[in-house]
Amino acid sequence: MKITVVGAGAVGASCAEYIAIKNFASEVVLLDIKEGYAEGKAMDLMQTASLNGFDTKITGVTNDYSKTANSDICVITSGIPRKPGMTREELIGINAGIVKSVSSSLIEHSPNTILIVVSNPMDTMTYLVHKTTNLPKSRIIGMGGALDSARFKYRLAEALGAPISDVDGMVIGGHSDKGMVPLTRHATRNSIKVTEFLSEERLEQVKEDTKVGGATLTKLLGTSAWYAPGAAVSGLVQAIACEQQKMFPCSTLLEGEYGLNDLCIGVPVILGKNGIERIVDIELNDAEKAHMIQSAEGVKKTNGLLEL
Ligand code: 2OP
Repeated sequence: MKITVVGAGAVGASCAEYIAIKNFASEVVLLDIKEGYAEGKAMDLMQTASLNGFDTKITGVTNDYSKTANSDICVITSGIPRKPGMTREELIGINAGIVKSVSSSLIEHSPNTILIVVSNPMDTMTYLVHKTTNLPKSRIIGMGGALDSARFKYRLAEALGAPISDVDGMVIGGHSDKGMVPLTRHATRNSIKVTEFLSEERLEQVKEDTKVGGATLTKLLGTSAWYAPGAAVSGLVQAIACEQQKMFPCSTLLEGEYGLNDLCIGVPVILGKNGIERIVDIELNDAEKAHMIQSAEGVKKTNGLLEL
């Protein structure tokens, strides 16, 4: 199993690190445009192999896509991250050009690959990759919901005073502060609905804290987060590589599901060896439906800024 991660910045390097630590891939290629940078990150990571007990071979390359040839899965993290006070949508001008050229170069050398898009604004970049590559929709996956759901579970555990392993929950919708739809009605603590334990008011707070999860970290760190994004990507990669048939909320092209069309947005999907094996169309209540429609409108507005 060969995996390429484009962008050796904090998010890309974390992806490579978590993929390697989970020890299911034979090879990870880390690619960056900055001369020697990916090579340095790869060497540093390889020097953790004996300490962390993995056999995955990580190599770094400077902008040489021939070294990514025949990758089973490629992760696109390239582009600029947001600075404090910026929205993900504001990155579109620079990131669209980068994502377009990166996805074309990847497909040229790995025509059968599955692409995972991390660059922001993620839902719009995932849509752009569809338009650029024309790959089957099962092979283009946007990473946002897995990360937002992890942040949701963190906030739920905090509110419940429970260990995170006790908590389950999912965030669908767009990967933006306004677009996220945390499904509080379905969230559970060890199979009991969290609505049994938390007041409506407290759950509303959990929802709000989840939605600004990325912005909160950007304010603290001065740039966007990397550990949880890297871990979330590694979970998607593992589900595909190990043919797990695991369910994650991911951004995918909708063609009527959830009453939505011609956009990529976060919904639950089953991940297996073919990428997205199927979209899970769950029943939403009126409030959730309204929130999802509003979220889709936001994503479509950002898609409208693309020069296709
Ligand atoms: C975040 O929410 C990187 O968009 C990513 O942290």
